[in-house]
Amino acid sequence: MKVITLNDEVAIGQAIGDRFCTLVQENPAAVLGLATGASPLPTYCRMIARFHAGEVSFAKVHTFNLDEYCDLPATHPQSYRSFMQAQLFSQLNIDLQNTHFLDGNAADEVAECLRFDALIEQLGGVDLQLLGIGRNGHIGFNEPADAFTLGSFKVQLAPSTLEANSMYFVDERMPTHAMTMGVGAILRAKEIVLVATGAAKAEAVKAMIQGKITPQLPASALQNHPNVTVYLDPAAASLLQ
Ligand code: PGA
Repeated sequence: MKVITLNDEVAIGQAIGDRFCTLVQENPAAVLGLATGASPLPTYCRMIARFHAGEVSFAKVHTFNLDEYCDLPATHPQSYRSFMQAQLFSQLNIDLQNTHFLDGNAADEVAECLRFDALIEQLGGVDLQLLGIGRNGHIGFNEPADAFTLGSFKVQLAPSTLEANSMYFVDERMPTHAMTMGVGAILRAKEIVLVATGAAKAEAVKAMIQGKITPQLPASALQNHPNVTVYLDPAAASLLQ
């Protein structure tokens, strides 16, 4: 794992946004693995700025999002499809037909997960995967568990995740389940960039980088991947030796 500490989230967003843009300039039909939450926002700002500067076109890319809530309509403002539409897709020349999500409302969850995983493979796999990390070490919605999961699956959200994300559901009940790419599927990406900022992530970051590989800290599995770059701010890096 390569670890890079930069001054703040803006500098991190510039570095990762530039990596995405370089990839797409080299391979206009690249397959991008995208994430939601606060961590990716500066990256998306950088991609949008460079698109508006005429430096890169996203017309041919495909995107796969890591996860989606269950029992929330895709049109709900807090669905991850809505998030991506608002924060990225609506501001790029991306073809919405090429933006792929797990359907958290699918009647047959197993078939939906198989469809999603097969589509990733059919398109040649994810070229560059963006990740955040939860305070409990989750990636996507792979919560601490007894075993790593390979393919996509439906998961019950951990209490710390419900607490962290409850701020987005002020007057309504937050979904308790989600569908997520499995750790095995995430590790199949050719290149991975992970961003963590703030002191609340410092314990998880230390365990991910310097702890043992365990499904109790799902991000620790990234130690097994040959091309991972972790971008930290000083607070998130503060417990590293
Ligand atoms: P955050 O979430 O970027 O909103 O902190 C990251 C995560 O839970 O994976």
